[in-house]
Amino acid sequence: MLSVLPVINYIKDKALSLRLPPSQRMAPPEGESPLQKVLKENALRGRDILGIKDLSAQEIMLIIETAQALKEHKFDETQTLFAKGQSLVMLFEKPSLRTRITFEAGMTQLGGHAINMEGPLGVREPVSDVGKNVARWVDGIMARTFLHSTVEELAASANIPVINGLSDLEHPCQALADFQTILEQKPALKGLKLVFVGDGNNVANSLMLLAAKVGTNFTLACPEGFEPNAELLNIAKAEASISGAKIEITHNPVEAVKGADVIYTDVWVSMGEEACKDEKMKAFTDFQVDGKLMQLAKPDCIFMHCLPAHRGEETAAEVIDGAQSVVYDQAENRLHAQKAILSLIL
Ligand code: CP
Ligand code: NVA
Repeated sequence: MLSVLPVINYIKDKALSLRLPPSQRMAPPEGESPLQKVLKENALRGRDILGIKDLSAQEIMLIIETAQALKEHKFDETQTLFAKGQSLVMLFEKPSLRTRITFEAGMTQLGGHAINMEGPLGVREPVSDVGKNVARWVDGIMARTFLHSTVEELAASANIPVINGLSDLEHPCQALADFQTILEQKPALKGLKLVFVGDGNNVANSLMLLAAKVGTNFTLACPEGFEPNAELLNIAKAEASISGAKIEITHNPVEAVKGADVIYTDVWVSMGEEACKDEKMKAFTDFQVDGKLMQLAKPDCIFMHCLPAHRGEETAAEVIDGAQSVVYDQAENRLHAQKAILSLIL
């Protein structure tokens, strides 16, 4: 009789030679999971997550630590079904890859379910009626909107938690996943220097607030006229005076990145700003993160980008595809950070 062993070995060798990614399925941890405490943790239960502005440093760290624990116990089914029987409605006024997929996969992994809706809000019926209806059927809302006031209106009308999945003002889920990623790469958040090179946009606003609250020094290098939201900048400065962080706005990227532990950038033209594309492309010409700029930072500086990225514009391909880049770790952590938010608020 012919042995099947050579065939099995051939398949194994072939799989290795193709460098297949490791399976997403992990072995369950041994002993009692630290995640047991998540269900008993009520600090954020029922809360809206509209912006980093509304979270304390302790609440931010609770989300990041829960995200890291969920990452380590990803497929321990007995201990991570924190949304069992629960549904989340996802309302998208703008396109998405990461936010859309990670929220839906996250709900599934937590034993719950996500429903996707795409299209403008407030056209077919008032935003407040959307909120009041949806709250009668499901347990949470995640919304990606043009106006920040739309997520606020949803939160005011729906008596279930509302999560901001990106508005024109903030992108809190991104910033939480990003600081989880930074903590994976660096020993502590306090005293680090994070330099954002680019537009003072939604992502920059959330990173600035989070940095200020946890004690990370934050410098934003942008062209004149593209500073972060003035009200949020004032809040960040007030928070920084408590945490000991330094918050700086400059128009000189070369000076800004000296001594940086983290360099971060984002697109120059955000979704909804297409009409200003030509003006912005001109204004940001000297703000590309390229190899020369990276060399001015600390040798172990990491490069971050929320994605999607435009190679040749805000980042050179050599940087985003280079050894210092952690952009896919950031993208992965969107899943874990959002699972943490869902587990703690629903
Ligand atoms: N970073 C981020 O929010 O990606 P998406 O726009 O693809 O959701
Ligand atoms: N600032 C970008 C972020 C995309 C994730 C935008 O709003 O389009």
